[in-house]
This record gives sequence, structure tokens and C-alpha cells, in this order.
Amino acid sequence: MSVIRHDLPDAVWPTAEQAAASRLFSPIELGPVTAPTRTWVPAMVPWRATDDGHATDDVIDWYGRFADGRPGVLVVEATGIRDVPSGPLLRVGHDRFLDGLRRLVDRVRERSNGETRLFLQTIDFLTIRRRPEKDKFFARFLAITPAHRVAMRSDDEAEVRARLATCDDERLREVLTAREFRDYSHGYRDEVNDLQLPHVRELPKVLPELFADAAARAERAGFDGVELHYAHAYTMASFLSRTNVRDDGYGGSTAARARLPLEVFEAVRASVGSTFAVGARFLGDEVIDGGGRIEDATDYGVAFAKAGFDFLSISKGGKFDDAKQPKVGEAAYPYTGPSGHECMPTVRSDERGPFGRNVHLAASIRAAVRHAGHETPVVAAGGICDFGMAEGILARGEADAIAAARQSLADPDWWEKMRRGHGEAVRRCIYTNYCEGLDQKHKQVTCQLWDREFDTGEDYVPRSKDGKRRLLPPVWQPPESGS
Ligand SMILES: Cc1cc2nc3c(=O)[nH]c(=O)nc-3n(C[C@H](O)[C@H](O)[C@H](O)COP(=O)(O)O)c2cc1C
Ligand code: SF4
Repeated sequence: MSVIRHDLPDAVWPTAEQAAASRLFSPIELGPVTAPTRTWVPAMVPWRATDDGHATDDVIDWYGRFADGRPGVLVVEATGIRDVPSGPLLRVGHDRFLDGLRRLVDRVRERSNGETRLFLQTIDFLTIRRRPEKDKFFARFLAITPAHRVAMRSDDEAEVRARLATCDDERLREVLTAREFRDYSHGYRDEVNDLQLPHVRELPKVLPELFADAAARAERAGFDGVELHYAHAYTMASFLSRTNVRDDGYGGSTAARARLPLEVFEAVRASVGSTFAVGARFLGDEVIDGGGRIEDATDYGVAFAKAGFDFLSISKGGKFDDAKQPKVGEAAYPYTGPSGHECMPTVRSDERGPFGRNVHLAASIRAAVRHAGHETPVVAAGGICDFGMAEGILARGEADAIAAARQSLADPDWWEKMRRGHGEAVRRCIYTNYCEGLDQKHKQVTCQLWDREFDTGEDYVPRSKDGKRRLLPPVWQPPESGS
């Protein structure tokens, strides 16, 4: 692909009157929950939880700051459903996490004046290990097989290991299976196809209850709903993936691949009250070789709508399968390859560019869902960056709500600026993914457009661990009315 550096499109901003009359700022029903506008901040992990998964003041301040912009919906970052150590990932797998989550909910209610509907994105993921040092991999991690003995012409395991360690990558590609080579070159990770592993085989038994308990806890914490994370590189997306060839009834065909996601939904729905929304985020296109395309996604969308999901939020790509090789000692990151680029497209792109790049996926899924007779709202994301684009998508019936992640990070007040007719004051995202680079290193996520602005006269500005960056954008005061 020839890479073109795209300019930001000219922005179209509304007057306050135009905003008031717009589709974007009109209410939307998400099953039992009504959001006052169709503006949506999708999940973004800011890496601010404690190492044992609790919401910190920094997490709570982060969501409070997004609530200042009063989006119709704010989705809290991917939050782990299991009670297992997961690094600084927010967690909801035990009642001890409730206090922090309640404080987060209270902050969003207060700062959005009760307007913003708040969903928790719930996630399960499989084990992934760091890329090993070559010597260690061959000395300890690789299970020696008869094929290795034959190739290394030795029956002595220690000798086989030592000889393998001296082979170059070209030779190793011949000697190792594709999976063994990947474990060596990218680091080990579990796959849903690993039925030989009891904890992987058991996933269909354990996940419905884990997701259901997490949702019930989110409801007790005061959230308005959950977004089941069925997208990107994680467990549920791997069940939906065309690469899922499980032969236990949960893989191999479109219907079998959708079975666990539907069973999880049923369990979640049964564990929460009728006023609590249950939706999902899933992929309109996996992007990877051998992965699912829009045809699979439309089938899933229709199946989910039929089952009663309250909303469908569409993403794209973000897979491990095509991720770049990590450095030794680091884990693969699913947003580094072509599918990662499609998930968070930058201004360095092909001729289509990043702006509204993935809307056609939401549009196809929405059309299929409507054709099947369901009114389930569909949420579009991906480079949507001004009022004109957002309103056009809604007017053409391509989606029912507009999600903007990076534009909201660049300027969480942008919704409110648009609504009040101050669009010219929006700090526009430049789509070069400095924030994504921080995410990749599990560093506290900030935006390059504001994280060095200290000279603002604010009383208190929280800083990153190294003290160099501010953690939240400067406060915006709407101009006096009439000015
Ligand atoms: C720093 C960062 C963290 C993200 N974390 C999540 C996440 O936890 N869950 C998720 O579904 N998507 C996540 N995303 C993807 C966004 O929700 C969104 O789909 C993507 O950035 C494309 O939308 P945009 O062009 O409006 O940014 C993240 C994106 C960024 C930039
Ligand atoms: S860091 Fe860059 S890509 Fe990320 S939100 Fe800010 S301007 Fe946009």
C-alpha cells in the first residue's frame, strides 16, 4: 500500500440552534436506557488502576473529565471479570472492587449533571507471555518432541536443546511447528482452539457465570449497563473469529462460533434487572488472513439483535495474529500490525484515509439488522471527528450513535462545545497515535495536544508518574452567554 499523509478534513460545526435540532443531539433508546444524545465515548484504557485492579483517584478523575463534555454514553475501559492478578487493568471480578467503581459512577453522575449514561466494558482475555530469550526458550520452555530429535539427530534431550539454540531463524522455521516458532519469536499465548488445555476447554462452562457476576456487580455499583467486550484480540472475539475451529460445538461454523457469545449474553441478561442495558462491542471485520469479514459480522449482528442485545458497537481489527514481533522481554500488542491500524487508523493511511474509515461496517450491520426486523441501535467508530461527518452518518442511516475515542481524548469538552455553538474552540485530534503508543507501553495515557500545558493557572494538575505530563486536559470554561 502506498502511504499518504492526510490532512484533517475541514470541520463543520453547528450553531447552538443547529445542534439543538440535530440528530446527533437527539435522544436514543438503548433497550431500557435512554441516552439524551447520540454522542458516545467508547472504551479507552488509560492505565491508571492500581496493580491489583482498583479504581484510583486518577481513574475517577479521568472519567469525571470525560463527563464534563456530557456525552450521551461513556463506556468505561475494558475491565477484567476474573479475580486474578492482571496488572494495572481495572477489575470487577470481586465485591472488593465495588467501592472504587461506585465512586467512579458518582463522579460521572455529578460532573455530567446526571446526563451521561455510563456503561462498563467487561473483558476476558487468555494468557499471553512475553517474548522469551532464545537461550531460555530452548533450555526450558520448548517441549521436545520426536520431530525435534530427528531434526537435531540426537536422542539426548539436553543435546537437542543445545543444538536448537544454535540454529538461525531460517533453520528454526523448518524444524519447529508454526506454533512453536511463534512461541519462540513472539511469546507464548493461549488460543481458544487449545482444547488440550483444561482451562481453555472449560471456557464455555465458566465464562457465562463470570460475565454474569461482573454485570450484576456493575449494576450494584450503579452503572446503567455493560458492554460485553466481544472485539479485538480477546477471548470472546476469538470465539467469534473464523480462526476458531473448536470441535466441541463452540467453533467451526458461524452458528457454533456465536454460541458462547449468545450464552454469555443470556446469563448476563438473567443476572441483571430489566432497567439495565446489555450490549456488545464486536468486529465488523477481523482484517487478518483467514479471519472473519463483514459477512460474518452481519450474521452475528442479526443473531445478537434477535437475542435481545440492547446495542451493537462496531469496531475493526486489533488482533494478535498480525501484531509486530515484540522485543525480547515484552509481550505482543494487538494494535501494532495492519489489523491494529484498522482499529485506530492514523493520518498515515491509504487513499481512503482514516476519517470515518470503518463506518461502512456499522452501516452494513445496521442494514442487515433492520432487514431482519430489529431496531437494535448500532454504534459507529473510527476517525469520526466533526459535527458534519457525525450528522451525515446519522442522516444516511449508517449508524444510530457516534463514538469518538481519540477526538474525545484530545478534547473531552468537544461535545459540549458543539452543543453550545463553540465548535471553533474544539481542540482537534491529529490522529498520529501518540496516545496509542503510551497505551502500548502500559503507560498512563494522555494526549500530546495538552499533556505539557502547565501554565494554565489551575489550582491542581495531576501529573504522570515521571512528573513530565499532566494527566488531564486543561479545564474549559464556556464563554459567557451572548459573547
Ligand atoms: C488509548 C486507547 C485505548 C483503547 N482502549 C480500548 C478498550 O479498552 N476497549 C475497546 O473496545 N477499544 C479501545 N480502544 C479503541 C477505541 O475505543 C476506538 O474504537 C478506536 O480508537 C477508534 O476510534 P477513534 O478513531 O474515534 O479513536 C482504545 C483506543 C485508544 C486510543
Ligand atoms: S495523542 Fe494524538 S491521536 Fe491521540 S488523542 Fe491526542 S492528538 Fe489524537
